[in-house]
Amino acid sequence: MNPKFKLAVYLLSALLLATPIYADHTTNHVDVEVGNLSSLASKGRLVFNTNCASCHGVDAAGGTGGPPLIHSIYNPGHHSNVAFIRAVRSGVRQHHWQFGNMPPQQHVAFGDMVFLMKFIREVQQQNGIETKVHKM
Ligand code: HEC
Repeated sequence: MNPKFKLAVYLLSALLLATPIYADHTTNHVDVEVGNLSSLASKGRLVFNTNCASCHGVDAAGGTGGPPLIHSIYNPGHHSNVAFIRAVRSGVRQHHWQFGNMPPQQHVAFGDMVFLMKFIREVQQQNGIETKVHKM
């Protein structure tokens, strides 16, 4: 086979293989707008982007290692602040998504979780996420 043609075939197959992965990533990503934050929430933003953004994306918009948390699934009626604290202390088994398990993040202090929750809830509200009472 002509080496240039071979290269073209390789590039094309790589592109075709990469497409579903790329598509999957974008569907797990949401556009998050961050408006004015209270001073507690601003501290929480820093805590979040330092400790959680590697998986959950900057400002919890979703990343390659974890879901967006500015998402209706995580509204306060379905995932209370206690659920967040439990997730960080004990980790989470994969159940809603296909990212695998979340390992415990015990280096995040409880006090910092208070700021972090202010950040999550303020930004959820700014992005139109409403509290829905959870019905099983
Ligand atoms: C190593 C990657 C990773 C890091 C770091 C991480 N998470 Fe997660 N997290 C995940 C994954 C993956 C899930 C989704 C599990 C599922 O539902 O399938 C998740 C789920 C969650 C949930 C939902 C819990 C539930 O009950 O369904 C919360 C809340 C959460 N993460 C908060 C955080 C916070 C806050 C931080 C930072 C302190 C953090 N995560 C750091 C990967 C991560």
